[in-house]
Amino acid sequence: MKIDVLLGLQWGDEGKGKVVDVLTPRYDVITRFQGGPNAGHTLEFNNRKHILHNIPSGVFREEKINIIANGVVLDPVVFRRETDTLEAMGVDLTRNLWISRKAHLIIPTHRILDAASEAAKGKSKIGSTLRGISPTYMDKTGRNGLRVGDIELNFREKYEVLKEKHLGLLRLYDFEYTLAGEEEKFFEGIEAIRRFRLVNSEYEINSFLESGNSILAEGAQGTLLDIDFGSYPYVTSSNTICAGACTGMGVAPSSIGEVYGVFKAYCTRVGSGPFPTELFGEEGDRLRDIGKEFGSTTGRPRRCGWLDLVSLKYSLMLNGVTQLIMTKTDVLDSFETIRAATAYSVNGILSDRVPYNLDADVDPIYTDLPGWKTDLTGIRSKEQFPPELKDYILFLEKELQTPVRFISVGPDRNQIIEL
Ligand code: GDP
Ligand code: IMO
Ligand code: MG
Repeated sequence: MKIDVLLGLQWGDEGKGKVVDVLTPRYDVITRFQGGPNAGHTLEFNNRKHILHNIPSGVFREEKINIIANGVVLDPVVFRRETDTLEAMGVDLTRNLWISRKAHLIIPTHRILDAASEAAKGKSKIGSTLRGISPTYMDKTGRNGLRVGDIELNFREKYEVLKEKHLGLLRLYDFEYTLAGEEEKFFEGIEAIRRFRLVNSEYEINSFLESGNSILAEGAQGTLLDIDFGSYPYVTSSNTICAGACTGMGVAPSSIGEVYGVFKAYCTRVGSGPFPTELFGEEGDRLRDIGKEFGSTTGRPRRCGWLDLVSLKYSLMLNGVTQLIMTKTDVLDSFETIRAATAYSVNGILSDRVPYNLDADVDPIYTDLPGWKTDLTGIRSKEQFPPELKDYILFLEKELQTPVRFISVGPDRNQIIEL
């Protein structure tokens, strides 16, 4: 068996959580392989909305194993809140949710360092989710980090050593903070983690593969937020691309099967950084209002703009996407004209590549297509698609040279059509 990977092709929030929930019945195991509680993955069914931050989006389907693998950074406080909520709803997690011993832990001072660093950057702040992601990955690569497996022996001592290092660093910032109450919550979170099955997940995942079980790996964030290939420094601190699935789970590149690339029918971005097709006027507000574009993790309004095929092609190249999934198609239902950037003018020169410096003078060159002006939210089969939508999909497939496999037409589990 191979591992299929599902990831975001834009700046996150493409609807990955919803699609993972839809695909889960086809798999035995769902994994998260990078990122942490900066993610907010929304699922909707039975008129209820659930937002997951640390936990894979397969948890609502019975009998599926969900694994938080080594590449993830885990916040015990968020984890406890999430597991308590799910268990109160009757979701049985202790049997089906496994955690890698090699996943790194976010401790309270990581969150404070994140906030201090952002405050010190002033106007050039990254717009981080303030969940401690960057300091935790810095400690991981700096070889100072604490891992889930550390809670099994002398954890308090190891914690104090790291905390003291952080307090030293915090003295370098002119930043007021308090740890009051935070450490208690953190250690309660550690106790919550102890209730779960801690595993060497690289072995477990590879044995699942050997014994013929199917695995879906759920990406967090999006390709354009990748630490290497995103619009650095306005990125997150992990490899969000398909290669991150290999290091984030301990599987060989040859074990990757399908790569599902999820994209919105337009673009959004939260936080700072370049966004060539961003709309500032009435059209941007309209996308935000209809698409309810407010962050699932922080509630911040998302910046909105037209679909950008130049960056989408870049994402397809970096990930080796085999199938496309377009979400939020219904958000364009009322638009007379739908625009997609098919090239950039970079300092006056036409280009089909994402330039090194996206802050340069980048003007998108648009192709306009007629809107379908039809309510798609009740549509459940491709035969019901309006002709303009069929043409739009053909246009995308031709431009992107990749088949579109699913069209999502609303937030609910049922609002999706397989082509
Ligand atoms: P993720 O981080 O990629 O999982 O995406 P988020 O959950 O942060 O953001 C996607 C938002 O769009 C959520 O509020 C979803 O409920 C919603 N959503 C997902 N698919 C669709 C869709 O096809 N149409 C509409 N209108 N909303 C959708
Ligand atoms: P999901 O998985 C959208 C953005 C932040 C900020 C930058 C760095 O829900 O798609 P960080 O906290 O990671 O240091 O923030 O990355 N960001 C996201 N934007 N969706 C996400 O996750 C994001 N996770 C981080 O807004 O610009
Ligand atoms: Mg999200």
